[in-house]
Amino acid sequence: MNLTEIKELDKKHFMNTFGERTPVAFEKGEGMYLYTEDGEKYLDMFAGIAVNVLGYNHKEFTAALTEQVGKLLHTSSLYYIESQAKLAKKLTELSCADKVYFANSGAEANEAAIKLAKIYFYKKGVEKYEVISLKSSFHGRTLATVAATGQEKYQKPYYPLIPGFKQVEINNIEALKDAITDKTCAILLEPVQGESGVHPVDDAYIKEVRRICDEKEIILIFDEIQTGIGRCGKMFCYETLGVEPDVFTLAKALGNGVPIGAVCAKDFVAKGFEPGDHGGTFGGNPLATRAGLAVLEAMEKESLCENAEKMGEYIESEINSNLKDKVKEIRRKGLMIGIELPEGAQEVRKKLFEKKILVGAVGNTLRVLPPLVIGKEEADIFIKALAEVL
Ligand SMILES: Cc1ncc(COP(=O)(O)O)c(C=O)c1O
Repeated sequence: MNLTEIKELDKKHFMNTFGERTPVAFEKGEGMYLYTEDGEKYLDMFAGIAVNVLGYNHKEFTAALTEQVGKLLHTSSLYYIESQAKLAKKLTELSCADKVYFANSGAEANEAAIKLAKIYFYKKGVEKYEVISLKSSFHGRTLATVAATGQEKYQKPYYPLIPGFKQVEINNIEALKDAITDKTCAILLEPVQGESGVHPVDDAYIKEVRRICDEKEIILIFDEIQTGIGRCGKMFCYETLGVEPDVFTLAKALGNGVPIGAVCAKDFVAKGFEPGDHGGTFGGNPLATRAGLAVLEAMEKESLCENAEKMGEYIESEINSNLKDKVKEIRRKGLMIGIELPEGAQEVRKKLFEKKILVGAVGNTLRVLPPLVIGKEEADIFIKALAEVL
């Protein structure tokens, strides 16, 4: 099918939740590049919204999935699943968590993390159920995660929201202190806000948040759905901050395109979930967890966390040396890069698309989140094209 035919079919049959999309459909991918049916080649600097960390058609990843597809896709968690147990073990070895639960998406992982914080106190017989998150955050599109997402545009159509959620300004410790009550069960935040344009939490702020959570017995949940799995230069972003959350959530890059979400928690809070308290048909199925294992293996074998920091630093320094007068600010952690322009980020995104380079844009900020396998050659192509467009 050509693009016009696909567009017509989409318009007729698919609910119009995405509006007018970028006018392209890809047929296959290889490394850092996506290809259309007629062979047009696009450099991907957005990785399917921070998902495709290994790029496209990664040899070992593809081989692992192909083998798994030939063996077994799904059984349900009524039965034991080897790759589920192994991936849970691997995530606990790599992180501060003791136990893992698997979901199918980021929103679902956050939903489960919120439920876990609530049930933890419920089982202790303590009446704590309020969740504080941050303004301009993004935590997903389910009803509870919309209530936690501090952006009115996502919340308004769904009023009245689930009660017990409130949002405070990022990096403002007094605002947070004012919002805490004796009913606060959890503070939920992204270590770097992604969707709203790459806004990191301050080191001093997050340390104080951790201290307050310890003092007041509040569960600290990090939403690492976008920041986790090497994106910020370490396997988990919290490692760059010098604090450990009680619970953190993953999705996106964990499956490199196969839908999976995870709630990773310290033992004391993980104990809140007992048989029957939470669950799902697909979560942690053989295909998704095999994908997760293959991602983590490749990440380690190819030192992709280190590459994320190295290439992120390179891109930032090249922009600072060559384009400083055209750029208002660069905000970056690893390969999570926000390039704030004086104006016109959407126009710049469109012009880069015409040059066959894919990036994201929100407000005045370009979002650059390439696959972590990016090399200097591809970074240079992006920087050269950005310079021409600006
Ligand atoms: C920080 C963060 N949390 C949650 C989500 C929701 O994840 P999903 O779209 O997989 O439900 C996203 C998606 O962009 C995200 O960036």
